[in-house]
Amino acid sequence: MSDTIKKLNKLEKDLNKVKQYFYDQIKESESSIRIYTHLDADGLSSGAILGKTFYRERIPYQITVLKQLEREEINKISDQVNNYNNLLIFSDFGSGQYLELQKQLFHKKEFHNLIILDHHLPQKISNKNEIDKLGELHEETSPWHINPYFYGIDGSYEISGAGICYYFSKCLNEKNIDLSPIALIGANGDIQNQGPNKSFIGINSLILEDAKNVNLIEVVNDLNFSAIKPLNEAIAFSKDINLPGLTNDANRSLKLLQTSGILMENSEGKIKTLNDLNQEEKQKISSTIIEYASVKFNIEPSLIIEKLIINRYLLIKEKVGSELHDIAEFSNLLNACGRTNSASLGIAIAMGDRKIAYEKSHDNLIEYKKLLVKSLSWLFEQKKIQEKEYIQYYFGEDVIPESIIGTITSMLIFEKSNRIDKTKPIFGVAKREDEEVYKISGRAHKKIVKKGVNLSQAIRDACKLSNIDVLGGGHPPAAGTKVPVNKIEIFLENCNTIINKQLQLSAN
Ligand code: C5P
Ligand code: C5P
Ligand code: ZN
Repeated sequence: MSDTIKKLNKLEKDLNKVKQYFYDQIKESESSIRIYTHLDADGLSSGAILGKTFYRERIPYQITVLKQLEREEINKISDQVNNYNNLLIFSDFGSGQYLELQKQLFHKKEFHNLIILDHHLPQKISNKNEIDKLGELHEETSPWHINPYFYGIDGSYEISGAGICYYFSKCLNEKNIDLSPIALIGANGDIQNQGPNKSFIGINSLILEDAKNVNLIEVVNDLNFSAIKPLNEAIAFSKDINLPGLTNDANRSLKLLQTSGILMENSEGKIKTLNDLNQEEKQKISSTIIEYASVKFNIEPSLIIEKLIINRYLLIKEKVGSELHDIAEFSNLLNACGRTNSASLGIAIAMGDRKIAYEKSHDNLIEYKKLLVKSLSWLFEQKKIQEKEYIQYYFGEDVIPESIIGTITSMLIFEKSNRIDKTKPIFGVAKREDEEVYKISGRAHKKIVKKGVNLSQAIRDACKLSNIDVLGGGHPPAAGTKVPVNKIEIFLENCNTIINKQLQLSAN
């Protein structure tokens, strides 16, 4: 039996205990279950999986989407507990706040109980190697707290919040295996497809097997360009591939495509998309690009192939060419909904709505894309990124709002071009509209995470060192918090010091 399957078995064994606990709790409570979930694609996918599961079991529920489970939110939830006797479920957050939840809720007379289904590093845990501490925490919070790190599973790459919810759902009813694609949409939203050629690794790859077994997903080798944009534009404005002479130049890209001998215009006179091409045509295009780059710029073909060819995960039952056909585009749509104030549309779409919610979401997608383009060009044109010795950071000012500061910071790290220095972590800082605080989004490239950078820990340490009493953390490559306006300078300076220490410690 593979190591991954062994880990999954342990997780599933615990989920059976959660199931028992869950049914015991709802037997006693007459109110509907309250689900609290995160507003990004993984959080919305988590909410959708739980919603669909309870709907199928005819168990009443309500979903609330939060931008983060901050202390103030926990206070509000705690106040509401006095009025309603609900079972609370926290998905895609809760582990990073479990002590706070315990402290606020467990002593309450009316408090019914809670379940945490999360994949973030738990509060008080610095990294996955703290096996003893993780073991104690696992025991202490069983059966109501499920977290991958309890089973040696890495929550930043091997399973997402939606993945944890999926296994809980499947444990309640095997039929929910058809929700496996939603779990992968969540994992994709959290950028967990980081294996070779964008494959899923760890438990995510087992979820993929489920999805394939029930014929809901097919994996195809494809060119790493948008499937729905005119191909010349997809090449010129690709997020991942930098081709000198073609990048940012749609006309020259078109000329190169035409040399492959394929008619690039469709019957309406528009430039074809990848979706319009058959496998043989794609093969020709890929050879043309490989030849162009290897001959003209002396780039090793294998290096080009590594980036040019990716796994694409296609949802067999969705309309070909729609945003929902490819899980990458699907998760982008969910992010767009969540980050433009329409989280409920995202949940409805992930639960299966293909009419009203789906139609409405087009406006959200357009708004979101415009906001991202505007933010990125402002950031570079105005040279907003500032450097310290070990970190870099930028303020979103009045251009990049809190809702997308995380997305923009992720894009900077994952961008193909080296417009920013990938050897230093980057912190996006956005002023919250109605509070004197900044929202912080930290991101680090995988390469420096391997060298010892752990942003979850860095952010928690920097808050402590700066005397900021807030919750924060996340994953080693991606973490966040909020910081009072008057403490931002000291906070960033402390981040700088801590990152230096993390790098030194692991070099020794
Ligand atoms: O809260 P949650 O886990 O859902 O969010 C994860 C965030 O971290 C996402 O914004 C994702 O883009 C980012 N991430 C990243 N690099 C990773 C894993 C996640 O930037 N390796
Ligand atoms: O908000 P942002 O996308 O920057 O968050 C990065 C990661 O840090 C996410 O996984 C998020 O859930 C986590 N985070 C957290 N606690 C916070 C803020 C962010 O665990 N207070
Ligand atoms: Zn997540």
